[in-house]
Amino acid sequence: MALTTAGTQPLLGEVAGIPLPATTVDNWHQIQGFKAQPDDLLICTYPKSGTTWIQEIVDLIEHSGDVDKCQRAAIQHRHPFLEWARPPQPSGVEKARAMPRPRVLRTHLPAQLLPPSFWESNCKFLYVARNAKDCLVSYYHFQRMNRTLPDPGTWDQYFETFISGKVAWGSWFEHVRGWWELRDNVQMLFLFYEDIKRDPKQEIQKVMKFMEKNLDGAVLDTIVQETTFEKMKANPMTNRSAPKTILDQSISPFMRKGIMGDWKNHFTVAQNERFDEIYRQKMKGTSINFCTEL
Ligand code: A3P
Repeated sequence: MALTTAGTQPLLGEVAGIPLPATTVDNWHQIQGFKAQPDDLLICTYPKSGTTWIQEIVDLIEHSGDVDKCQRAAIQHRHPFLEWARPPQPSGVEKARAMPRPRVLRTHLPAQLLPPSFWESNCKFLYVARNAKDCLVSYYHFQRMNRTLPDPGTWDQYFETFISGKVAWGSWFEHVRGWWELRDNVQMLFLFYEDIKRDPKQEIQKVMKFMEKNLDGAVLDTIVQETTFEKMKANPMTNRSAPKTILDQSISPFMRKGIMGDWKNHFTVAQNERFDEIYRQKMKGTSINFCTEL
């Protein structure tokens, strides 16, 4: 499947073989030259892995559980999206430069494409990984409703596109492997969507510790309650409302299901067997372990 076009405009380009939004590719020089600071915290995810969820958790921790402060702006505007570029809006880099320190930033970039200053500055990285099957399903529905990404085609077509890594931000396998393998060499907290789902309190405590925030039990309980799927779906500041020309939530809501194991409602038996085989090949030799169902 082509990478591909809306009218005559290509929606995706490539950097070093990784498909990225064309507008990001056009702005690549600025992105690579971004000057990270030692007190930056970078939220890193493959798309559809719970980025919005961890952003809200981090924001609530940063503001000591003050729910009103987290209503100050829509979630996508609170933490600059490093590689975001859609002129004439200010780019992610420009927004980050204008932000007071310490900054919380976010990216979907694979580790090898990260601006080098992040490594040079020894920043903190908070990576959230989600199992590949649910990521695929979530990304399929997201591309159906997101006008800035290529139309996914049919489920069967998209299944192949995802496996071959011809989606924006590239292969799930390489992304997750790349970041996982770095986890002991840098300041990184590596979390799993499935763990946050199963035991939010325990995982939020890990994030608090990583952010060096000492908050009492009542605040922790507030953060757990405020970041449930239901709460975030009902919260206009977290449910990613955007003009229909960008995200058409009448096709599929941004806060879609928020569960583990939805892949079972999508994968055929043959697709599941094929996926498992490809997974074994592509993830061979890694110690990472995912949970794909409750
Ligand atoms: P589904 O499409 O499977 O429902 P991202 O923010 O990286 O784009 O990820 C979006 C996915 O995370 C969507 O998955 C969305 O529903 C899910 N999500 C967002 N907030 C969540 C929450 N509080 N709890 C569980 N899942 C959540």
